Amino acid sequence: MTQQYTIARLGHQGDGIADGPIFAPRTLPGEVVTGGVEGQQLTDIRIETPSDDRVKPPCRHYKACGGCQLQHASDPFVAAWKVDIVRAALAAQGIEAEMRPIHTSPPSSRRRATIAVRRTKKGTLAGFHGRASDVITEIPDCHLLAPELLAAIPVAEALAVLGGSRKGILAVTLTLSSAGLDVSVQGGKPLDGPLEASLAQAAEQQGLARLAWDGEVLAMRNPPYQQFGAAKVAPPPGAFLQATKDGEAALLSTVQEIVAGSKKIVDLFAGCGTFSLPLAADAEVHAVEGEPTMTQALDQGWRMAQGLKRITTEARDLFRRPLMPDELRKVDAVVLDPPRAGADAQVAELAQAQVPVIAYVSCNPVTFARDAKALVAAGYTLNWVQVVDQFRWSAHTELAASFTLSHISG
Ligand SMILES: C[S@@+](CC[C@H](N)C(=O)[O-])C[C@H]1O[C@@H](n2cnc3c(N)ncnc32)[C@H](O)[C@@H]1O
Repeated sequence: MTQQYTIARLGHQGDGIADGPIFAPRTLPGEVVTGGVEGQQLTDIRIETPSDDRVKPPCRHYKACGGCQLQHASDPFVAAWKVDIVRAALAAQGIEAEMRPIHTSPPSSRRRATIAVRRTKKGTLAGFHGRASDVITEIPDCHLLAPELLAAIPVAEALAVLGGSRKGILAVTLTLSSAGLDVSVQGGKPLDGPLEASLAQAAEQQGLARLAWDGEVLAMRNPPYQQFGAAKVAPPPGAFLQATKDGEAALLSTVQEIVAGSKKIVDLFAGCGTFSLPLAADAEVHAVEGEPTMTQALDQGWRMAQGLKRITTEARDLFRRPLMPDELRKVDAVVLDPPRAGADAQVAELAQAQVPVIAYVSCNPVTFARDAKALVAAGYTLNWVQVVDQFRWSAHTELAASFTLSHISG
């Protein structure tokens, strides 16, 4: 039976939510919609009264593709919604802070993507997973990926022909690097001699910088360097990298502003040195990261670079063994960029250590707000928050925030 609802708000996945709650994907607050109800889900949705914020999705794949969630909303709407998510997460912890205008990465700027590839009777099918399904949608005109990345989808297809199993879906992570395409494949056939040889040959023919198969490097024609400040780093296959160069630059300049003038910096959850290496132009940095292959890559990048101050690295699980107050003595500033779970154990020690300045970079407003509450309770002021949207048209929100001890102005 068809029922009518008015959308009250968007949920954290970007779905419209009406009283009930009833979830209506790809609707906007204020819209009157009709459809059938299955459980808490509205299906076969018709927009009876569209919102003024509704726009024609720029990408022709949007209807079927699950890669984007918010192309039906105007840019100003998405911008305001993302800033509000952070504001509301902080308010739920009793914190009010200045929100700087959002920085949004331009279309066609994603430098890394995981392409799903399935072998079919005719050849291969490659693209993104469809909306809430395992169906693969082809994306030849995708508005997210950088043009060079989009042009590399045939590489993923060629690898699936060689090493994709008939039943499984291959996950092919393509990353742009200064030396060409860096490719890391998961879910393929188990390696044996002939497969290794044919994949290595394909890497040569396709001019790949590197090819890794289930974590094992099969071919490295050139190290797939990423430039971090004055240093270039070859990250381990599949290692974390900020999704767009533009977003990385926005986060970095915010972090640099927060820690400006610091002589001794600790970079926690440092990855391959996205922040540590540029910061080492002006400060000594101790970089701590859980994954030893990443700290090794960072260290190698630092050793090859000219003119940087000293960087020391440490591979350490910061959830189980956070840096303790006595290890943070004489440190001017801490940069903190944890995964989605946040950094409650580390923040508890930071609260004790009273490092004067903290730059907190986060990909999860909820855990960020929880950690912010602990810092504020320990005497820090949250000076301002810069929201950065490098996952354009998704429900994902990132940010960088400035904390200083209350007697120091931010
Ligand atoms: C959001 S990434 C940030 C990396 C880096 N700051 C950058 O911008 O490229 C989070 C990092 O935390 C690391 N990580 C995850 N869990 C960790 C843990 N328990 N202890 C230390 N590092 C961890 C991941 O390997 C990853 O490099």
